[in-house]
Amino acid sequence: MNKELTIGLVGFGVVGQGLYDVLQKSPALNAKIKSICVKNKKQRSLPDEIFCYSPDVILNDSEINLVVELITDADEAFYIVSKALKSGKNVVSANKKMIAENLSELIRLQKENNVSLLYEASACGSIPVIRNLEEYYDNDLLLSVTGILNGSSNYILSKIFDHNKDYHEALKEAQELGFAEADPSFDVDGFDSLFKLVILTAHSFGTIVNPNDVLHYGISNISDFDIKYAKEKGYKIKLVGQVEKLEENKISLFVLPRLVKKDKYIYNVEDEFNGVVIKGLAYDKQFMFGKGAGGHPTGSAVLSDITAIAHDYKYEYKKMNYYTQFLYEKDGTIEIYLRYKNQQDLDLFKFDSITEEYTGPEYNYKIGLISVKNLIDLKDKLRALDIFIAVTRKTLNY
Ligand code: HSE
Repeated sequence: MNKELTIGLVGFGVVGQGLYDVLQKSPALNAKIKSICVKNKKQRSLPDEIFCYSPDVILNDSEINLVVELITDADEAFYIVSKALKSGKNVVSANKKMIAENLSELIRLQKENNVSLLYEASACGSIPVIRNLEEYYDNDLLLSVTGILNGSSNYILSKIFDHNKDYHEALKEAQELGFAEADPSFDVDGFDSLFKLVILTAHSFGTIVNPNDVLHYGISNISDFDIKYAKEKGYKIKLVGQVEKLEENKISLFVLPRLVKKDKYIYNVEDEFNGVVIKGLAYDKQFMFGKGAGGHPTGSAVLSDITAIAHDYKYEYKKMNYYTQFLYEKDGTIEIYLRYKNQQDLDLFKFDSITEEYTGPEYNYKIGLISVKNLIDLKDKLRALDIFIAVTRKTLNY
């Protein structure tokens, strides 16, 4: 029989309510929600008695043996999760920023207190990618993990490319549908994909990377010019995160928009769906596809973690112990499309070589090879420039 779980749920937003609903459909699981911590008192769909207004009520309740943390604020989430682990409670979380920024400490707390922290819902919504990387792809064959990791950006790009919608109209829809974060720049500027990629990297190659060190850039600067360029050449633009094994025990990772042709699995990933291509020796490519955002899909990943906790499952982070350690490599060269207006913006980009260029009345573009290091050095400036960058199909292998 499953272990009996008494749950303290922190957060009752889109995912919290989604979890509540899917839990009602899981009678086989011996789990009940005892308390739900929310910020403010207001009329809700459940009786008042179940709600509390401080996480300490849950953290100090000795009957609660599982804390499910589903809030937005990463610092508050870390306070709650670390305190729960220290007090011997298992935890399920969906907070990608909190996990990516504190992974070493969270692993230490799990070991020291002999408890489990699971976070399948933190990356790719309903797709069980973390547990598969942890268990199935648990050998040296894995070469790369590449994917559309953010449902909101993908929703916006789908509406732009397939329905000729305006960027801002599509973003508003993604917010209304509950896909986008409270601050949508988290989605459209690539932060959400970055944190997810950092988590996937730890479970793919056993390397913990500081998110501040990783190149990430999103879609908020996309213009009609870029969309026209992509359409004319038969591309869609997708926001893609990739971690890839290089030679000599190194890995590279980054999040960038990408020009994608029909022959790629991710070409057909539309709306709030996510898609992850896992490439390895011997099996070549495998593709995981599913809803990456929304209350019920994400709630179902949280439910799966709750079930796993009932069976005493823990991530063992085995690759951190037996793999040769892979180092994050900031070098490397990629081919990019750079749309720009001003010479001073262009001058920031030190292309190694140019393969194509265009000068026009409104915008110009160059396609060429550039070092990842150059882009990392510019990463905090990129959003403020009147430019757009996308990786071309040439340099990347997925
Ligand atoms: N805002 C996130 C997304 C939610 O759009 O993918 C799921 O992590």
